[in-house]
Amino acid sequence: MSYKILKKEELIPGQTTMLVIDAPQIAQKAKPGNFVMLRVNEHGERIPLTIADCDAKNGTITIIYLVVGKTTAEMNTLKEGDGFADVCGPLGKPTHIEKTGTVVCVGGGTGIAAMHHIAKGHVEAGNRVIAVIGARSKNLLLFCSELSALCPEVRIATDDGTEGHKGFVTEVLQDLLETEDDVAEVVAIGPVPMMEAVCRVTKPFGTKTTVSLNSIMVDGIGMCGACRCTVGGKTLFACVDGPEFDGQKVDFDELKARLRQFTEQEAESTEMFSKECRCHGGE
Ligand SMILES: Cc1cc2nc3c(=O)[nH]c(=O)nc-3n(C[C@H](O)[C@H](O)[C@H](O)COP(=O)(O)OP(=O)(O)OC[C@H]3O[C@@H](n4cnc5c(N)ncnc54)[C@H](O)[C@@H]3O)c2cc1C
Ligand code: FES
Repeated sequence: MSYKILKKEELIPGQTTMLVIDAPQIAQKAKPGNFVMLRVNEHGERIPLTIADCDAKNGTITIIYLVVGKTTAEMNTLKEGDGFADVCGPLGKPTHIEKTGTVVCVGGGTGIAAMHHIAKGHVEAGNRVIAVIGARSKNLLLFCSELSALCPEVRIATDDGTEGHKGFVTEVLQDLLETEDDVAEVVAIGPVPMMEAVCRVTKPFGTKTTVSLNSIMVDGIGMCGACRCTVGGKTLFACVDGPEFDGQKVDFDELKARLRQFTEQEAESTEMFSKECRCHGGE
């Protein structure tokens, strides 16, 4: 199994990259909501990344990643033709998709990539999908044309007003829920504060709200216990019980605290990687 990079495209220069990877067995089985754990090389750390799209016929999966620390920076040094040491998946429970009517898919930042695969699944199931996507600025928006080709309506929000509504996706969602009376479900994927805010908006409307917990995962297969989260008063593992949960039942305060748990060690690891790079003539 080569896990060769067939295509590499920088979607947002210096920040977000798309890779199409040769992974026929994963592509055969992957469903919206699934993720993979991958390792750049045999000395690397395994990290989880959502499958943003897959093509069973051509045996490829697409991932989109934001460069935030050591492993994603290292991934960015790979070129087309290079391969990953391993890619494990598909992991996590697939998104629950059934024909329900109108589904609003809310995506924030890099979360738009994961939301794209889920929106595609809902469209294929015969649902009317309204996409609401947001980013800080126009140049940071992902998948606008792909979503427009898929969904009858794409609403955009940018913090600085360079495209669409000036403000947050939650304001667009509030407006939508006030004017559309048949929204069966809201799916939100993006930064934890965004998903928490989406749940606050949907609560008074009583709309089913699904969030994808981007919590700390280590092994991604239910063995290490690192991704414990509290949902509806129960302790669950994001990797095997999720990653998607009923947003109204998630303990977001606990989740935010857990996400901050390893900040010091992550910064240390990034610092060491930048020094390693200089040793090998990277600067
Ligand atoms: C199920 C799952 C699916 C995911 N899918 C995607 C995806 O499709 N695309 C993608 O880009 N990322 C995704 N992530 C997040 C991705 O796994 C992390 O960004 C990656 O592990 C960071 O590794 P690193 O070594 O580069 O950075 P680290 O050294 O681990 O982190 C560096 C710094 O960035 C911060 N940070 C880490 N992750 C995030 C984040 N997600 N948002 C904001 N700040 C962060 C840390 O707090 C830290 O301060 C997913 C995570 C999970 C659990
Ligand atoms: S990541 Fe290890 S148990 Fe979920």
